Amino acid sequence: MFKVLQLNPFESEQACLIIGVKDLPKKFGGSLEVLDDMLSGALTEMVKNGELSAKRNVLTSVPTLGKLPVRRLLFVGLGKEKQLTFPLLKEAFGFAFKQIKEWKLPSAGIALDTFVTETIQKVDAAFALSEALPLSTYTFPGYKQQSNEPEKFIEKMTVFTEAMSEEITEALHTGFVLGKATNSARTLVNTPGNLLTATDLAAYASKLADQYKFQLEILEKEEMEKLGMGAFLAVNKGSEQPPKMIVLSYQGKQEWQDVIGLVGKGVTFDTGGYSLKPKDGIVGMKTDMGGAASVLGAMEAIGELRPEQNVIAVIPATDNMISGAALKPDDVITSLSGKTIEVLNTDAEGRLVLADAMTYAKQHGANYLIDVATLTGGVIVALGSDKTGALTNHEALFEQVLEASFEADEFIWRLPYTEKDKERIRNSRVADLNNSPGREGHAIMGGGFVGEFAEETPWVHLDIAGTAVQKGETALGSAGATGVMVRTLALFVDAFEPIPSKK
Ligand code: BES
Ligand code: ZN
Ligand code: ZN
Repeated sequence: MFKVLQLNPFESEQACLIIGVKDLPKKFGGSLEVLDDMLSGALTEMVKNGELSAKRNVLTSVPTLGKLPVRRLLFVGLGKEKQLTFPLLKEAFGFAFKQIKEWKLPSAGIALDTFVTETIQKVDAAFALSEALPLSTYTFPGYKQQSNEPEKFIEKMTVFTEAMSEEITEALHTGFVLGKATNSARTLVNTPGNLLTATDLAAYASKLADQYKFQLEILEKEEMEKLGMGAFLAVNKGSEQPPKMIVLSYQGKQEWQDVIGLVGKGVTFDTGGYSLKPKDGIVGMKTDMGGAASVLGAMEAIGELRPEQNVIAVIPATDNMISGAALKPDDVITSLSGKTIEVLNTDAEGRLVLADAMTYAKQHGANYLIDVATLTGGVIVALGSDKTGALTNHEALFEQVLEASFEADEFIWRLPYTEKDKERIRNSRVADLNNSPGREGHAIMGGGFVGEFAEETPWVHLDIAGTAVQKGETALGSAGATGVMVRTLALFVDAFEPIPSKK
């Protein structure tokens, strides 16, 4: 995708050259001055007339009319240099790439050095642009019989810089991998439930395993019955579709130790079961495998980047349906851990499938657990739809996840989780736990329930019910699935430092 050239960008033959502008002066300086001269002062003239702006995210297209080998210049306003941050830069790139895509240009050049500021180095700018390219131009193709025109994507981008380096090439690669892996997760989440069953999800994971040499295990219903995965299987009872417990392992260290367990809720459609969702609440529940998609996206990035870490991904995949055999409120079930659960609400199914997945990850050596799930509507009420809710039993592990989320620019906010909360989850006359202690603080109740199965293992819970999808288009995404947490998880794994246990 990217070619790095140590050349004067204005002298290259390109259909379009993308240039950053900030703090626009009356008269140009540096490389833009050279450009202005080549265009006989046309740029200065444009600035004077207010036709060329450095306002953030404002795009200005300037045809060169044969005066330059480059046919068109696309100026990207970056605002005031001092106010430009890394996330804002990514956004600006997003707008520029959307424009190039709209023009149906298969290739473009970009003057990298014009995006560098005092605080944003060249490698950062390279990373930002390579991640923004796939993110901003993503669309879900859908299933319309007649699409107007086949989508045209940018196939090649030439990155011009005064001084080339290995780090720039590497940053371009990493950013692109993370962006593409996020898009893979988006596509999984956008796919409807009839076309993405647990079996389909397992087939997808199997393809990933082939491609990246992961160890793969798909547990079938019979094996799970033998093992005693009563919590996961309970959710599948009403379904025509067989459940799959999908397990991918990546070993990047000599020994299978310091293993990170990534556990993703893979409910391919959530009707609520007998605690049926209302007709408005049920629409959109194809996205209830968002956690699974985040984990699979992260695994794709891990497979590409091959960090020196050990990772086990566990995805309980099923839909949550109704039939004569389905799970009912009041039922008591026994989880793989041995803990019994009183089911008070069949719509609180995510925590049930995650319970056994967490235990299974632990049994397979996970020393650290991160679960990701579209778990509760409560988290949306609490934090809105742009913040992922977190719970943890371990400060130091949470710090590392938070650090990665800053880098990925994915907002995480930690919810309190107290002994009193645990009491509510453990309050049942007939079982060890109940799966729905009531509306109060129910994002905490949901996450806390999952934490019961982490037990003493350091654990972070990420509730993405609000962040897995977005209503409208943004600079770095289209309406629908966001692929949230793919980049946070991948960056977390990459930078992970094992934490010495206190004991
Ligand atoms: N899949 C839902 C959570 C959800 C809600 C995801 C909205 C995305 C958007 C989950 O299984 C669920 O139904 N949770 C219930 C739990 C309640 C019954 C304790 C909820 O949040 O209402
Ligand atoms: Zn539910
Ligand atoms: Zn659900």
